[in-house]
Amino acid sequence: MSDQKFAAKTIIITGAGGNFGRAGCIHFAKLGARIAAMDNNDSALLETLREVNAAVDGEAPVIQTYICDVTDPKSVQETVEKISNDFGEINMLWNNAGYQGQIKPTLEYDPVDFARVMNINVTGMFIVLQSVAKEMASQKKADGDTTVSHPFSIVNTASVAALRGTPAMVAYSSSKAAILAMTVSSAKDLAPHGIRVNSISPALIGPGFMWTRQNELHAASGSPYFSSDPEQVAQAKVGGVPMKRLGSIDEVIKSVAYLLSDDSSYTTGTNLVVDGGLSAGLKA
Ligand SMILES: NC(=O)c1ccc[n+]([C@@H]2O[C@H](COP(=O)([O-])OP(=O)(O)OC[C@H]3O[C@@H](n4cnc5c(N)ncnc54)[C@H](O)[C@@H]3O)[C@@H](O)[C@H]2O)c1
Repeated sequence: MSDQKFAAKTIIITGAGGNFGRAGCIHFAKLGARIAAMDNNDSALLETLREVNAAVDGEAPVIQTYICDVTDPKSVQETVEKISNDFGEINMLWNNAGYQGQIKPTLEYDPVDFARVMNINVTGMFIVLQSVAKEMASQKKADGDTTVSHPFSIVNTASVAALRGTPAMVAYSSSKAAILAMTVSSAKDLAPHGIRVNSISPALIGPGFMWTRQNELHAASGSPYFSSDPEQVAQAKVGGVPMKRLGSIDEVIKSVAYLLSDDSSYTTGTNLVVDGGLSAGLKA
């Protein structure tokens, strides 16, 4: 099945070897997009390639994998140039690679790990955003006038941790809050270049390995905000969600698709929260 919004569009997806990234590669490949899948984990990328090929019947999917560390500016620039040469153009970026860091209360948090989280989630996200945006801006100049005012779209993966400040996740929460500010500031800088920039903030996505592991780590963190029983941690979390259930990866991908596509053509600098109402409220 092809979808005009994505057919023959080139989408770069970072963190393509992970849960969200892999599901995104499969989803957009099925809709006829051309996927540039980036990750620094070789074997995870290969598994993504295998699953995309298995998921797309009939026509061969157009997917290329690129091993690249998002924190290395030279490697990112070379990779983006290679993608541009391989595909001829870049239309969309899902800037999604991330690292959650330790699950420990602030008094025990290792500053070395704090710096690592910030380096991957903030600096790495910026390096990819800037490199891809430069390529998009140069394409816009070469294309001249187009029928769509802002033909390029970038989606950064933030998190509800940015809005709520999850206990025992001080580095992750800080990094995701920085992504919200990066999204707003870069959206303003890039609007004159025909590029929209938005973010998504998911929370409580599962079931699956990440959900189970996270509850085990929260239970073991020693934080007074969590029970020491992972099952009770899980129940308490879902109990705090107005919709009283977990969200699915599919629901995350649909939100990313909305922001990447022209369905959101007049939206830039915003954050789409995908959390069943967990963080809903009027801010002071
Ligand atoms: N899973 C959730 O419930 C959830 C909720 C909110 C936000 N998020 C965010 O969504 C994004 C994806 O999460 P996920 O659940 O798929 O996680 P994941 O751990 O399954 O995937 C993350 C991917 O990023 C890659 N990566 C990490 N560091 C990298 C680097 N330096 N260079 C290149 N690639 C690197 C990893 O190899 C991995 O494949 C992350 O930014 C995460 O913070 C996830």
